[in-house]
Amino acid sequence: MIKFDAVSKNYPNGTTAVDALSLELAEGGITVLVGPSGCGKTTTLRMVNRMVEPSAGTVSLRGRDIREVAAPELRRGIGYVIQHAGLFPHRTILDNVATVPLLLGWGRKKARKRAAELLELVGLPATMAKRYPYQLSGGQQQRVGVARALGADPPVLLMDEPFSAVDPIVRGELQAEFLRLQKELHKTIVFVTHDIDEAIKLGDNIAVFRTGGRLAQFDTPERLLAHPADDFVAGFVGQDRGIRRLSFVQASGLPLREGPVLPVTASVAAARALDEPWVLAVDAARRPLGWAAVAGLPVGGTLADVQLAPLGHTFSLAGDSARAALDAALLSPSRLAVGVDAEGAVAGVADAYELSAAMTETTTVTPATADTPATADAAVAPGATPGAAEAGEPAGEPGEPGEPGNRPVDGGAGAGGPRVTGPAGAKGGEGR
Ligand SMILES: Nc1ncnc2c1ncn2[C@@H]1O[C@H](COP(=O)(O)OP(=O)(O)OP(=O)(O)O)[C@@H](O)[C@H]1O
Ligand SMILES: [Mg+2]
Repeated sequence: MIKFDAVSKNYPNGTTAVDALSLELAEGGITVLVGPSGCGKTTTLRMVNRMVEPSAGTVSLRGRDIREVAAPELRRGIGYVIQHAGLFPHRTILDNVATVPLLLGWGRKKARKRAAELLELVGLPATMAKRYPYQLSGGQQQRVGVARALGADPPVLLMDEPFSAVDPIVRGELQAEFLRLQKELHKTIVFVTHDIDEAIKLGDNIAVFRTGGRLAQFDTPERLLAHPADDFVAGFVGQDRGIRRLSFVQASGLPLREGPVLPVTASVAAARALDEPWVLAVDAARRPLGWAAVAGLPVGGTLADVQLAPLGHTFSLAGDSARAALDAALLSPSRLAVGVDAEGAVAGVADAYELSAAMTETTTVTPATADTPATADAAVAPGATPGAAEAGEPAGEPGEPGEPGNRPVDGGAGAGGPRVTGPAGAKGGEGR
């Protein structure tokens, strides 16, 4: 869809902002450009809509060299969102969003109707349409920025740190909203951030840049965590990448055992007879109520008479990740994680050792090409079919979305299953 072929950008002052970048971005996916400050992310992004012209190499869009397309025409098909939204302060929210349709000569009434639809799409109440940007919170302004970029329904969206200026809670909301929107719209999105967590949460594919405008690795988030190309990438993705990778593994395939589970109506004697230090009490529908410490049980009576220790949290086999399962084990007073089915009934238990043994077996990621992660040379989107970008679809028509990349099981709304071998990871599925 978007292809960089040996693209460099050198400034007259001697700065190499981007150095021989070759990268192919799949249609209908979110590609995140991530890296330290000054590594060339914004420059790379702006070369897509010709706000910056390359010093060498070729950028093509659907197989067409973008230099052959007049900049205004090119930009009509490319929405652009920046940090702080960049709204026109003297125009109302509605008129801000109507900007592009108006420029396209839609007429005021039709453009405003479209703007109202877009505001609804990004989750803003109609009452905000008449306000001015300064009368909105940072998060709301950012939503307006997204709505404005979607004005002409462009197939491509460029987003430069769109959520960086808001607090972490609003940022989380905007990210979730953004994924929901993308599920509906299937735009081809290039998203810049310097935050690796945001990259992992949002990206189908991630391009990690190092200082000097060089591509360090281009891969799915899961493979980036599993197989960082070098020490720079390993350092950039962080020390807890082993744990974070588990977010890409479904809990549904983890081996659980029946465990010491009794109805809350069972006698204390029955609990003792299990010869386990902890017994999980469940209600009539097998929903977990809490743990009974066997050593502290009274002489007689039932589990209903006993003060139960709280569960910590359970994990759902119907949507949680292996990371949630491991966390459940670590927080459980009995050290046993409780897995529940879609109805919330206990499906079984496992301790951290049992879980981690299964995870070690199942998180061996199949290398995409031999043993080498995709690196700087001719990196192709891991989900892309070679040559698909040149397939010559009519410009302006959003095509079928490319193979969606991996999204954390319980961290996003992506439909892509984790690319892992073995029972736990074999099943792809919906997040949450
Ligand atoms: N017009 C310019 N003239 C000279 N140097 C420039 C120009 N624009 C950008 N640069 C330099 O090019 C390099 C890459 O800049 P760019 O804005 O692409 O980085 P970035 O990765 O987006 O950084 P940040 O995370 O801080 O936004 C930087 O060293 C920057 O100083
Ligand atoms: Mg930048």
